[in-house]
Order: sequence, then C-alpha cells, then structure tokens
Amino acid sequence: MKHLNRRTWLKTSILGLGGITALPATLSALEDRKSKWLSKSMVKELPFNADPAVAMKARLLANENPFGPSENAIKAISNSISMGNRYGHADAAYLISLIAEKEGVKPENIMLGPGSTDLLEKTAISLCRKGGNVISADPSYLSLVNTAIAIGASWKAVPLKEDQSHDLNGMLAAIDSDTKLIYVCNPNNPMGSITDFDQVKTFCKQASMKTPVFVDEAYLEFLDNPEEKSAVNLVAEGHDVIVARTFSKIHGMAGLRIGYMVATEERIKSVTDLVRSTMGLCITSLKGAIASFQDESFIAKCRDLNKASREFTSESIHALGYQEIPSYTSFMIFPIRNDAKSFSKSMLDQGIGIRMYAIDEKPWCRVSMGTMDEMHLFVDALKVTEA
Ligand SMILES: Cc1ncc(COP(=O)(O)O)c(C=O)c1O
Repeated sequence: MKHLNRRTWLKTSILGLGGITALPATLSALEDRKSKWLSKSMVKELPFNADPAVAMKARLLANENPFGPSENAIKAISNSISMGNRYGHADAAYLISLIAEKEGVKPENIMLGPGSTDLLEKTAISLCRKGGNVISADPSYLSLVNTAIAIGASWKAVPLKEDQSHDLNGMLAAIDSDTKLIYVCNPNNPMGSITDFDQVKTFCKQASMKTPVFVDEAYLEFLDNPEEKSAVNLVAEGHDVIVARTFSKIHGMAGLRIGYMVATEERIKSVTDLVRSTMGLCITSLKGAIASFQDESFIAKCRDLNKASREFTSESIHALGYQEIPSYTSFMIFPIRNDAKSFSKSMLDQGIGIRMYAIDEKPWCRVSMGTMDEMHLFVDALKVTEA
C-alpha cells in the first residue's frame, strides 16, 4: 500500500474544503516509485452509474461527442442502409487508402476495427498470448492491460508523475526481457492530462528497440495541430510503434464503432495472422467514417465547441471550490468532497450522468464535455449537490 502514502496530496486536495483546492505538490513525492512497479491500479471505477433505462438530461459519462455524427456522415449512413446485404470490404479498402494518405503510410500499415477497443484487445492477444508483462502508466486507460492480464500476462504499472504526465524514464527502466508491450495513452484517460509529445516520440524510438510501443491517441484530435503531436510518423520511419485512433471521440461516432491503428507492416501482419480485420465492420459505419474523415470543418467545429464547454466547466467548478486536473481532452476529472455514492445519486436524481472513480480510495468525478446547455445543467446540479 506504499503508493497510497505517496499520494497524500489527494487527501490535501480533498480535505481542503472551502477555497479552491491547490493541485498537489507532492505527487512527486514518489520517493519509492523506482523501487516498485505496481501491479494493481490505484484507480477503481465505482459502480454508481446511471440506469440505462432512465432518461438523462445530460449524458456526460462516456466521453461521447454530443455534436456528432456529422451531417455528411449521417447522409452517407442513411444512403448506405440498403447496401446492408453486401460486405463492406471495398469501403474498408477505400477508408484505409484515405487514412494511409493522410498519415503518410502505406495501406499495409493500417488495420481497421470496430472501435479502437477491438484493436487494443487484438494487439494484446497477439503480443501477450504467451505471457510476459505489459507496461503502462497508472492511472491510465486499461482495456489493453486488462486483456493482457486476462490471457496470462502480468502488468507493470508505473505511476504518473506529479504533473500527471507519464513517467517515461520509469517506464523505460521497467522494461525487462519478459516485456511484450508498452502502452502509452496520450492524452490520458481518465486524467485528461498530456505527456510532452516530443518526449513521447523520443521514448518510443528508444523503447521500441526492445519492445513494441502502443500509443493510444483517442483524444489527440481535440488538441490544436494534432498532426504535429502524433507519434504516427515514427511508423513510416520503421519504428515498432503502434498508433491507435478512433471515430468514437472527435468524429462523434461512438455507437457506430470504427477505429484504426497504424503500425509497421510486420506488426499489422502479426495481428491479422491471428484475427480478421474488416470482418467486424458494418457497411453503414464504414460509409459514415469515410464521410466524416474528409469533413475537416466538422472536426474543427467539434474541437472549438469542446474547448468552449471545457473552459466554461473549468471556470464554473473553480467558482465552487473544485480543482480539476487540467484537461486536454473531451472530459475532466476532479476530486469531490461528498462520498461518491451520495454525490452520484444526487447528480443522477437531477438527470445528470457522470462517472465516479476512487483514486487512492478517494472519490473523484469524471465529467464528459457535452453541449453548453448540458454543461450548464451539470453545474446547476453540482450546486444543488453541494448545498
Ligand atoms: C483512451 C481511450 N482509448 C480507447 C477508447 C476506446 O474507444 P472506442 O473503442 O470507442 O474506439 C477509449 C474510450 O473511451 C479511450 O478513452
């Protein structure tokens, strides 16, 4: 339980009632970070989620994009329903060619999946099916790690640094002869934080000489100039780096299930030798993704609207004495002062769906960015919850 002690700042920030709580100064007091890699997450998702049968006024619990799908995607999907008797292989090939052109790689460097979850899991299966270990930050998004553990691998969790960025040196030091895969989530979920993009690229070059590095860029497009920040150009340079993107976030197509990953030809082949790629994809989703991928103005609009909702939410919760981890994504997370159960009940009773976490056994609320109207509802409900 050593890591609990290290996180004393959480206590400070949560117990510091009344004023704006300071962001922790001592998370770095990771004095023993180097000596132990955790194998159990310090984050637990709490089961106080909305009953799907109950209508919500604001659904802010799954980092969905309230502005999607784009009009163009909706049109393309509607027009393709009657093609549902056909497999979508030709559309998959076309979408792959568009992605390849944009990312500066060959079609052979791309694999599509029904959401990036599918690709995270398939990569874990391909690399960890004979055991070994996988390295990631903690807290982080654990789909890939959980699959790796489920099929017999172990997990080396390297705590995030004080500024909530990945401890890249710690992750490098964690590599051993049994390491099969490293997972980097940038920006990271559930913290909403980023790790310096140039440093991640340097890390990828070094680490991938020893073991494949998976960079999950699900939220990258919410940043300005995402192409400069992506690790994807490392693939064209031949590094054993796998970059995943999704149509679930900025494209607003979470329920339509499309994602892709970019990796060396050999790496893609090592996965597709085991499992099929495009067989999991619907022709409607492919048509929608093709339309959305080319709809730059929709992407720019979503980025701007997300930023506006984020700024409003941040200012509003500061006024109530909360302090979020600075977010670069379509959600933000902050420690709460009530207990998690009564907090989420109060929010749900007011029609607001959010996600609750225990981090080092302290309650946190993660709220996804909705429309401005939805964020007003969230803040109003938060005031009532506080009262
Ligand atoms: C960091 C990260 N990666 C991947 C995913 C999976 O998204 P999808 O399977 O919808 O592409 C999510 C979903 O929330 C996420 O937060």
